[in-house]
Amino acid sequence: MESTPLYTLSALQTERLSLRAFMTDDAAKIHPLANDREVAQNLASLPHPYLPEMALEWLEKLPALHGAGTHRVWAITLNTAPLHPTTLIGAIGLHDISIEHSNAELGYWIGREFWGRGYATEAARAAVQYALEEMTLERVYAKHFARNPQSGRVLEKIGMQYEGVLRRHFCKWGEFQDCVLYGIVQSAA
Ligand SMILES: CC(C)(COP(=O)(O)OP(=O)(O)OC[C@H]1O[C@@H](n2cnc3c(N)ncnc32)[C@H](O)[C@@H]1OP(=O)(O)O)[C@@H](O)C(=O)NCCC(=O)NCCS
Repeated sequence: MESTPLYTLSALQTERLSLRAFMTDDAAKIHPLANDREVAQNLASLPHPYLPEMALEWLEKLPALHGAGTHRVWAITLNTAPLHPTTLIGAIGLHDISIEHSNAELGYWIGREFWGRGYATEAARAAVQYALEEMTLERVYAKHFARNPQSGRVLEKIGMQYEGVLRRHFCKWGEFQDCVLYGIVQSAA
């Protein structure tokens, strides 16, 4: 069966990455990357263990979220690996897009085997640039668990400012987590 995008979304190109809409056959590629405790423990909503059907269920929700205008979710793929030109390495999205307040939350994850090569930074820079320049949102914000400083480093590297700590803001697997808030706004973009 030919793979087709599940929803309409502007593709974004960076030096090493292609950010595109998720496709009908991406579920099998998402599962081995997402079924990793090291990835799940720092995400708000990724369950663990992550069963194969969960990837499909998640993909099936995306068209409605895009239709409602509340989300823009890109698959992050490598465009430079000669042997694997369309390798899926993670996902990045603008969530809770508010037209009224002209803002959105940025979220992302990268499969563990691809960490530490600047891919999250490259993808986040492109998504935030799209949000500020193409969508002309006033503000993009992101939150990371305090125990996950590498995500804070990504946000700093793309020019987001530290805005404070939301103490015991989120209950992850039964434990309250402090969340570190970062943001970027038009006037400072
Ligand atoms: C957070 C995550 C997206 C980073 O992806 P990545 O592609 O490895 O990120 P990058 O390579 O672009 O940048 C990571 C930065 O964190 C730094 N870093 C790594 N471990 C760190 C630590 N313990 N403390 C502080 N910084 C750390 C790296 O050195 C790098 O910064 P540098 O370029 O200044 O050296 C990835 O680890 C991930 O998907 N984790 C699980 C899900 C998650 O946390 N998502 C974000 C939720 S807010």
